[in-house]
Parts: sequence; C-alpha cells; structure tokens
Amino acid sequence: MLVTVLGASGRTGIHVVRLLMRHGHTVRAGLRSRDRGAEVARFGATPVLADLASGADALLEAFTGADAVINTAGAADPDPSAVNLVDRDGSIAAVEAAERAGVPRFVQLSAQFADAPDQGDRLVRSILLAKQVSDIALQRSSLIWTLVRPGTLTDEPPTGRVRIAGHLEPGRVPRPDVAAVLAASLHEPRTENRGFDVVTGEIPVSSALASVS
Ligand SMILES: NC(=O)c1ccc[n+]([C@@H]2O[C@H](COP(=O)([O-])OP(=O)(O)OC[C@H]3O[C@@H](n4cnc5c(N)ncnc54)[C@H](OP(=O)(O)O)[C@@H]3O)[C@@H](O)[C@H]2O)c1
Repeated sequence: MLVTVLGASGRTGIHVVRLLMRHGHTVRAGLRSRDRGAEVARFGATPVLADLASGADALLEAFTGADAVINTAGAADPDPSAVNLVDRDGSIAAVEAAERAGVPRFVQLSAQFADAPDQGDRLVRSILLAKQVSDIALQRSSLIWTLVRPGTLTDEPPTGRVRIAGHLEPGRVPRPDVAAVLAASLHEPRTENRGFDVVTGEIPVSSALASVS
C-alpha cells in the first residue's frame, strides 16, 4: 500500500512510519516543514510537505495516488487557537483533501473522551472538542474511516498488548503500541467505519483489532 502519514515527525507518527516501512509499505511522510525530513528518510520513507494549517488544496499533492492516510498530527501548542487550527480545521481539511484526491481509507489518531469532551480543564476540553468536531467530519465523509482514541500517551517501550473497546476507563498506553494499532487497522476490516478507545492491556494488537465490533 502507499500510505501518507500526517504528523510523521511526531512521537507517535515516527513509529507509524517505521512500522509501515517494516511491513513493506510505501510511505509518504507528511511534514509541516522540510527541516525534519532526515528523521523520516532514515526509515526509507519519502518526506513530503503536508501542513494541515494550509488548507485542503495544499494537501492534495501529498495525497494523490495514496491508498490510505493516517493522521497522527496534533498542535504543538495547547492553546485553543492552535488546537483549533490543527486538530479541528486541519484535520477537517485533510478529510476534504482525501476525498478530493480519491484516497479511499482514512485512519485518525483521536483521543479518549473525544466523543464525550465535557471533561478536564479548559485546555483539555478544548483539545477534546476540536477532536470531536473533526472526528464527526470524518465519520460523515465518504471515506472508509477508523477513529483510534488512545488514553494518555507515554514514551514507555511497547508491550504489543492493548485493550480495545468502544469505551474504556481512563488509561495510559505507550506511543509505539498506538502506532501498531494505527498501522494494523489498515488490514483489519473490522475497524472500517468504527471508533474505539485504546489503553495498554493484555491482548496482542492484531487479536484486539479482530474483536472490534
Ligand atoms: N498526549 C497525550 O496523552 C495524548 C492522548 C491522546 C491523544 N493524543 C493525540 O495524539 C496525537 C499525537 O500525539 P503525539 O504526542 O505523538 O504528538 P507530537 O509528538 O506532539 O507530534 C505531533 C505531530 O504533529 C505535527 N504537526 C503539528 N502541527 C502541524 C501542522 N500544522 N501540519 C502538520 N503536522 C503538524 C508535528 O510536527 P512538528 O514535528 O513539525 O512539530 C508532529 O509531527 C495528537 O493529535 C494528540 O492530540 C495525545
């Protein structure tokens, strides 16, 4: 598959790039600036410019010909204006660009409680609300979608084991395990047009995805 990864230089995105390349896919690593190109090129991915703040037109070249988009981007700044620009409007622009470019499949890294955003402090609420709005836009699109909603992300080593369900108690999960869920979702039909929470757990990623309902 040819996969465009958005936020490819991010702490989760880089693991998605690494795993997709390891599994024999061709990867366009979407970056908002060329400065971080070397970090993704070392895995064999092709760096491409894909700034979510630039609107749908600017994303078309990175998407054209791709079989799937995996969106792992998130605002660098928790300020609501930055979050709305990237996590809300930027993600919506990516969905629109994928539709216009004819990309059939779109996997979105969302967040636990994005489907019930009335919680947390002001900044957490604003992130969850931005993600809820863009997640709904994806669900309403013509794309085959998957919404992956992890708990708190950590930089601990991967365990390869997760718990996945429509809704889970608050939890934590290593970024490489989330990346494995995002990458493997492309090959598990049960994840098509589904959203689910992910926290660390006891079940191998492929088995957990095969039980999505
Ligand atoms: N932190 C948590 O506990 C948590 C929990 C659940 C979900 N999430 C979500 O999971 C996602 C990934 O989190 P993370 O911690 O791995 O993120 P991260 O390390 O902060 O990486 C975010 C990525 O998004 C990119 N980005 C920022 N603005 C962009 C733009 N305008 N256009 C394109 N790309 C842009 C960044 O590019 P640069 O490298 O150029 O900055 C970076 O590659 C985020 O959406 C986050 O909200 C986080």
